[in-house]
Amino acid sequence: MLTGSKVILREKRLADARDDYTWQTDPELAQLDATPLLDTSLIQYLLDYPIKLHYSSLIRCQFAIDTLDGKHIGNCVYYGINETKGEAELGIMIGNRDYWDKGYGSDALVSLLSHIFRETKLNRVYLKTLDSNQRAQKCFQKCGFIPYGYLNKDGYSFVLMEIRRNQWGKKGKWEFKTASASSRQSNQSLT
Ligand SMILES: CC(C)(COP(=O)(O)OP(=O)(O)OC[C@H]1O[C@@H](n2cnc3c(N)ncnc32)[C@H](O)[C@@H]1OP(=O)(O)O)[C@@H](O)C(=O)NCCC(=O)NCCS
Repeated sequence: MLTGSKVILREKRLADARDDYTWQTDPELAQLDATPLLDTSLIQYLLDYPIKLHYSSLIRCQFAIDTLDGKHIGNCVYYGINETKGEAELGIMIGNRDYWDKGYGSDALVSLLSHIFRETKLNRVYLKTLDSNQRAQKCFQKCGFIPYGYLNKDGYSFVLMEIRRNQWGKKGKWEFKTASASSRQSNQSLT
């Protein structure tokens, strides 16, 4: 369990299934996440959930995001862990809209990055987010992610962002080096 100032990151559990179903069948969330809308009945989803949770936990480090008083508001994960390269991809979703733009996402990310850089040997964490998703980009930049390129895939335009261990501060979780190279122009040459 990882505790931030606004959220707790905890192990996923079976009781998360209904929230996860609600969020995965939400058209706006699917669009923001550039993922297909889930097309499964709730019954089938609940039946499949235990086995999916088990197998995904074998290859992904996934956490539920709870408020400090225990409300499940989203999920975050790092996956594609490459120990040779020392890197992994990160994903996050605050599914409950009531908690957008209030610092919950950045607190969850900072807590997760703090865990990754303190408890694992990974040196680089990267992610992609839609070019149009300004909220997500702002949130990631607040946490120290720096844009390093662009990707067009499956009809979507993504911004690629990364943070390296040496950009993560040593004294405290918010004391990272500021993402100064954040302008689109300065990064286009990297694509
Ligand atoms: C993306 C997400 C994780 C961010 O979490 P969050 O808790 O909303 O983010 P934070 O409140 O920490 O930071 C968001 C920042 O973006 C700003 N913002 C919001 N909309 C914005 C816009 N259209 N343009 C620019 N900035 C914007 C907010 O004001 C805030 O900045 P501030 O703290 O300086 O005021 C969350 O909103 C989410 O999961 N959204 C739905 C799914 C999604 O977008 N998935 C894609 C993830 S790659």
